[in-house]
Amino acid sequence: MSLCFVALSVLSCGKVAEVKELNIIPEPVFLETKTGSFTIESPLMICLENLNQDSQTIRYIDQSLRKMHMRPSFESDSKQSALTLVLSKDVDSVLGNEGYRLTVSDEGIVITANSETGLFYGYQTFVQMLPDDVSTTTYSKVSVPMCAILDYPRYEWRGSHMDVCRHFFPVSQIKKHLDVMAAYKMNRFHWHLTEDQGWRLEIEKYPLLTEIGAWRVDRNDEDWNYPRNPEPGEKATYGGYYSKAEVQEIVEYAAQRHIEVVPEIEFPGHCCAVLAAYPELGCRRDTTYGVAVADYWPPTAIMCAGNDSVQTFLKEVFDEVVEMFPFQYVHVGGDEAFKKDWKNCPKCQARIKALNLKNEEELQGWLTAEIEKYLIDKGRRIIGWDEILEGFVTPSCTVMSWRGTEGGKVAARKGNDVIMTPVQYCYFDYRQADSLYQPQAIGKAFRFNPLIKVYQFNPTPEELTPDEASHILGGQCNLWAEYIKDGNHQEYMLLPRLCAMSECLWTPLASKSWEHFQYKVEHHKDRLTAMGYNVCWGSFKPMVAVDTLAQGGFNVTLTAEELGTEFHYTTDGSDPTVSSPVYTETLALPAGTTLKTLATYRGKEREGVYTFVF
Ligand code: ACM
Ligand code: ZN
Repeated sequence: MSLCFVALSVLSCGKVAEVKELNIIPEPVFLETKTGSFTIESPLMICLENLNQDSQTIRYIDQSLRKMHMRPSFESDSKQSALTLVLSKDVDSVLGNEGYRLTVSDEGIVITANSETGLFYGYQTFVQMLPDDVSTTTYSKVSVPMCAILDYPRYEWRGSHMDVCRHFFPVSQIKKHLDVMAAYKMNRFHWHLTEDQGWRLEIEKYPLLTEIGAWRVDRNDEDWNYPRNPEPGEKATYGGYYSKAEVQEIVEYAAQRHIEVVPEIEFPGHCCAVLAAYPELGCRRDTTYGVAVADYWPPTAIMCAGNDSVQTFLKEVFDEVVEMFPFQYVHVGGDEAFKKDWKNCPKCQARIKALNLKNEEELQGWLTAEIEKYLIDKGRRIIGWDEILEGFVTPSCTVMSWRGTEGGKVAARKGNDVIMTPVQYCYFDYRQADSLYQPQAIGKAFRFNPLIKVYQFNPTPEELTPDEASHILGGQCNLWAEYIKDGNHQEYMLLPRLCAMSECLWTPLASKSWEHFQYKVEHHKDRLTAMGYNVCWGSFKPMVAVDTLAQGGFNVTLTAEELGTEFHYTTDGSDPTVSSPVYTETLALPAGTTLKTLATYRGKEREGVYTFVF
């Protein structure tokens, strides 16, 4: 009687969803769709096998389903349940630690994995089978297509980085970032916590790092590249930092989403905020260090490698860092350490001599190795940006290759582990469409990483041998925040490019397909919007391929990045409007033709008129 009443009241308040096609991102390793569908209803009956309802993954799943108004109800009998989650007792060697199998049959949905991580990813796939607006619409019935999925990642390192130093972001924004990472099976959150423009982490032993180092004079309304210098005595009012309690909250939130947090504590460079707080750690006595108000180049502030207190400082900071972050990796920065001060510093020069080092690059190598030894004793591994290869690098150090893939190749050939994050595919501070139609972004217009470019990223260079390639742990996208002042803009730069990145890092190379992804991502833009994210709709400049014809003139083919884009065009020099003809096939154009295009997408004009002269 009461069950009937519950069912009726749910039916009356929820929508019924049609069977949805499968648009899973990242594309699973193996996916077979079958005819027919299975209908799930709210309340959703779930059965757990070999799993505790109190486990962190089940608590996550419970909360996630509640948010979608699916009203989970845990049952002990799998015959009654619509969704069964099975932690395998016998290891399924195909799946590894992160893989899962998911089947939808007329008996229900079953997700099986060797680990909670695998079940978590199977659940993320299941969520993507639900309607795109499931986070904003209450459904009483959803039909899921019958299918069989076998899935596991191509790479173990699927990272997403966030700079919280150039601009500061609240805990709520970091959680939003972690949520969307989890939805796309990304598993390493690289948290860039220290910079010239701010130190963002509470360290009890060095309170001035946050009392002074977390705050800069506010120049947010000025050009990042040309800010006014701070006036003498001007108050530092912009900034913030994360308390230890907040860090713990984020670490736990990430862990519940099977994401490891990789804190980055930069040395010896990018340290204005450190030197503003503790100037005695710098080489120079003839200067006043201050937290940088915006950009400055080259970043010459550097910790004094000849001063023993620098090692003490770093070790004591890392003592607290490893207490806060329970994961394996700690990032130690190491990029863009300009060594002018080291060349002029008697202490640094004396250290080079005493250690019989060749140059200042080797001095950085020595300092990094000392700190690495200290961290290895604490059971940790370090990562450094690829500049650390310029001095010397220990075999145990992981190299993050950002200046292209060259550093990564060198490191892999030496036998070092590598994370690939080459700027030309992975830097999400670059524009994703023509600069005329985008918010201000880093550098000039050629710093251009549209969705299609990100999708072309392959972390493993073809020229590596299988043994060398085994050192490529994976890749990640980096979101530097010089031009990103708030969460809305941060999401815009991240999405939907994160979807492309996740497919580059999860899906076997042979199963990647731009055309299929292009189709799927249209749905994911709607999904993400319904989830409350601010997505970029894409690039609407036509991609132009030109063939020279033997008889003179050109064959011109236009391709759109965004599926559903129509290019209206003219060839008579006039500006096209929405009434101009729509491009449908390759155009044969005489030499000297001016082709002008105007894009429409989802019923709106996008960007402006583009002109090409052939
Ligand atoms: C970097 O972009 N400087 C690592
Ligand atoms: Zn020095």
